[in-house]
Amino acid sequence: MGLPALPRRYHPASIWLLYAVGLFPAAWTFYLGATGQLTGNPVKVFEHLLGEWALRFLILTLMISPLRDLAGINWLRYRRALGLLAFWYVVLHFSANMILDKRLAFDVIVEDITKRWFITIGMAALVMLIPLALTSNAWSIRRLGSRWTLLHRLIYPIAALGALHFCLSVKVIGPEQLVYAGLVILLIGWRLVRPRYMAWRRSRRSVNTGLAPAGPRPK
Ligand code: HEM
Repeated sequence: MGLPALPRRYHPASIWLLYAVGLFPAAWTFYLGATGQLTGNPVKVFEHLLGEWALRFLILTLMISPLRDLAGINWLRYRRALGLLAFWYVVLHFSANMILDKRLAFDVIVEDITKRWFITIGMAALVMLIPLALTSNAWSIRRLGSRWTLLHRLIYPIAALGALHFCLSVKVIGPEQLVYAGLVILLIGWRLVRPRYMAWRRSRRSVNTGLAPAGPRPK
């Protein structure tokens, strides 16, 4: 049984709701930190929260397509918002590190980026996210055509770098890192086998209906 469909007229509102709910953890933790209600090191707590949500939103963005392929749930309309939320969380995570933690000490920042591998990897992911965020609009989709799809496949290496960055940021890899890294590996694995699965599904459908298999579907 499928999920009850949301009437079309509520789609735009549901996307704005997703942005609001998605930004809530950052806003709430910032408020708690600013009002002295965070225990431990508030800057670190804030920075960690932003990093974790960045990775969560990257994973949720990658889950939209398998959710449609495997469960028939079409939440494509939320993919752009999820991707942009991931981008803004990475930007906030980076800014918290640079401004609140390193207090814009340029030499420390440069040394961190060039000498600490996990930060170099995080920076690479952030840089790769920028063209995706800039082209996450209808105008770019029209202008770039099939190059847009190609460009946006960068989301897979970005998520892989994000998960690797997380694993390397800790001294001992624990269950949390393993769960995130495992999810990213599964989602990349799915992307690799997807064309074959879709071809198999189409051929099975055509056998069942007695129709000739259709040509390759747009991705
Ligand atoms: C796609 C990009 C990125 C993702 C998904 C990401 C995610 C994460 C996650 C999940 C953590 C661990 C948080 C925790 O301990 O709970 C982390 C830690 C960290 N990240 Fe990132 N990050 C990204 C990019 C960056 C960038 C660009 C920087 C540059 C400054 C950065 C700096 C750090 C630092 C310094 C830590 C360790 C904080 C500490 O334990 O002291 N990250 N990141």
